[in-house]
Amino acid sequence: MFVTLLLNCLIYMGAMLGHVAICTIAMNRLQGSGIAYRWERVVKKFIYVGAFIGGVYPAIAWISYQPDQDGSGLGAPLVLVRSQVQGNVGYYTVVMAVLVVTVALRVLHVWRDRCESRWSLLRRRCIDVQAEVETNLVSAGPVLCWSRCGWNEVQKLEVNVKSILMERLPAALNGMTITHFSDLHLTGKLGKAYFEFLMERVVSLNSDLVVVTGDIIDNPELLPWVEDLFANIAAQGNVYYVLGNHDIRNQSGDIVRQAMARAGCIDLGGKSVVREVQGHQVLLSGNEQPWIGNAPDIPTRKVDLRLAVVHTPDLFGWGQNQGFDLMLAGHAHGGQIRVPFVGPIVTPSRYGVRYASGVFYQRETTLHVTRGISGLQPIRYRCLPELTQLQLESTTTH
Ligand SMILES: [Fe+2]
Repeated sequence: MFVTLLLNCLIYMGAMLGHVAICTIAMNRLQGSGIAYRWERVVKKFIYVGAFIGGVYPAIAWISYQPDQDGSGLGAPLVLVRSQVQGNVGYYTVVMAVLVVTVALRVLHVWRDRCESRWSLLRRRCIDVQAEVETNLVSAGPVLCWSRCGWNEVQKLEVNVKSILMERLPAALNGMTITHFSDLHLTGKLGKAYFEFLMERVVSLNSDLVVVTGDIIDNPELLPWVEDLFANIAAQGNVYYVLGNHDIRNQSGDIVRQAMARAGCIDLGGKSVVREVQGHQVLLSGNEQPWIGNAPDIPTRKVDLRLAVVHTPDLFGWGQNQGFDLMLAGHAHGGQIRVPFVGPIVTPSRYGVRYASGVFYQRETTLHVTRGISGLQPIRYRCLPELTQLQLESTTTH
């Protein structure tokens, strides 16, 4: 009796975890697919309905099961799986197999994507912005309670300085710095004072280049914020950006570009520019696909550093094919919620959580994915908002 109950509990948990895995995989791939937002919302509703039905069905089957139903003495979940295996390969059997494969692939990717030899963390500082600015950073109502939960990190900021080892980096560019941040998601839920504090930190880093990788604004009423905030950092003329999927969700991308232009930022959307840094030629190419426009034309002329600026890390393969030395991306927010011992679960990517955040290296291209600054929902757990300064270092001088 005890063994049967234990078996049933394990199968029930496996079926539920597998079902959650299937729904999460579907959601992650959908949000990384680049389909129009209105269709994304329709498909999401189907996923929600499927998640609900698949979630409650085994529980109902278990509760309503009559012990002598099949004469085997097995509980409902066990019967559920067994009958499906006997008849055909049932849904819950498949999802449990998918769960096993997903976990195995995750472990394999974590192991294969290790590239500690390509970068190192030089400095890390976690700032409680709420305490620093001494003003309420969140609006009233449920969002205020949500944001003030002790575990929620939305009002903090981690400032990281990372050394990135680069092959083919000219000696004169050794030590070149790039400030990278992304995904501000101006909604109004997090107050302007937070972003003003962020921009002060960006100015204080005083990098050779500043790169913003999209999802700047969600609420069109806050367009004046865009101009104010970015004007603070664009005075030196070294701020480059691409737009993300949220920048065209509630307003036209052109309006956001106009605000960024008025602030003095340089648009890289579907474009390539060559800029001189410390007497050397640096190519910057921006790609806003799969949501906006086309991939940029890549000049064939020889340059000293090839830098790709994209919103989604799903373009890593494109960056490798184009021979970029360094690629900067956002979009995934590091998953926003990181479960202990598991890590991120929900990230809007065709590759799931593989490129949620961090440094990756494949085929001579280094990819840096920032966790971003904020999000549509003001929730972060074990996933601090991140502002990063990258210091490029040549492997030949290392
Ligand atoms: Fe985002």
